[in-house]
Amino acid sequence: MRLEGKSALVIGGGQKPGNGPVGNGRAVSLTYAREGASVMVADRDPTSAEAVVAEITAAGGQATALTVDALVENDLAAAVAETEAKLGGLDILHNNVGLSIELGDAPVTEIESDVFDNSMALNLRSMVLACKHALRGMRERRKGVIINISSIAATEAYPWVGYKVAKAGILALTEQLAIQNAEYGIRCVSLAPGKIDTVMAVDARAKAWGKTREEIAAERAASVPIGRQGTAWDVANAALFMASDEASFISGVHLRIDGAAGCRVG
Ligand SMILES: NC(=O)c1ccc[n+]([C@@H]2O[C@H](COP(=O)([O-])OP(=O)(O)OC[C@H]3O[C@@H](n4cnc5c(N)ncnc54)[C@H](O)[C@@H]3O)[C@@H](O)[C@H]2O)c1
Repeated sequence: MRLEGKSALVIGGGQKPGNGPVGNGRAVSLTYAREGASVMVADRDPTSAEAVVAEITAAGGQATALTVDALVENDLAAAVAETEAKLGGLDILHNNVGLSIELGDAPVTEIESDVFDNSMALNLRSMVLACKHALRGMRERRKGVIINISSIAATEAYPWVGYKVAKAGILALTEQLAIQNAEYGIRCVSLAPGKIDTVMAVDARAKAWGKTREEIAAERAASVPIGRQGTAWDVANAALFMASDEASFISGVHLRIDGAAGCRVG
């Protein structure tokens, strides 16, 4: 019970539909709840949010589903306000929403301006605005943790410009939040997953490139020094540590969760 008595708001806390493995939003919502947090599962897809809440409550945890489009500032503000009203304050804001090739992302020579704008809005602006609204209450209570999901795309030779630039922007956002809010007792970290076996990452590529899920999964696993893709539980376990008081002296860091992929240079 490493998060006992804490409240958490997971933006994108549902799961992309499909028969693949657990996604990052669902895994982290389940993990926070298992460790004693009351979790607000906020997602654009209400069916998905409700399914995660049902899973949490069936296991004896506390959770509430919220319908939130992270592209809409009022939705984000309302999600924070509802969390504060229901749970007495927000302890952990977890920003999970992010998409790449499904938005039509492309190399810089081919990028459409509206695709680039959409990528920045979904991957970066959504996090800025969620933090904006969460910080007011966190500063008043003089405590809080913000966890932003970036990607090793931020620092590796990633081919598409929209996702790369937005995920790199999350690193700058995290550092600014950490330094500007340390005096209020608020910590902020970013997690940078590498190749994780989720529906979004594997099945979307299989669909886009006319391959099977198994082919894409094998290619991705072979490219990881540790010899396998990560799972969403690998990311959730890192988030759990960062969200807990065990990490109370850690802020402003970017933690790669990538099976050593980020160590490969040249
Ligand atoms: N899977 C990987 O290999 C990988 C690698 C690096 C980073 N990431 C990051 O992990 C995060 C989660 O990815 P995942 O593949 O595990 O997906 P996921 O299973 O966590 O699904 C994402 C959830 O976000 C929701 N969502 C999408 N747009 C939304 C919006 N506008 N408002 C509210 N909710 C919205 C979806 O409905 C879905 O439930 C993303 O930020 C992604 O960039 C994933």
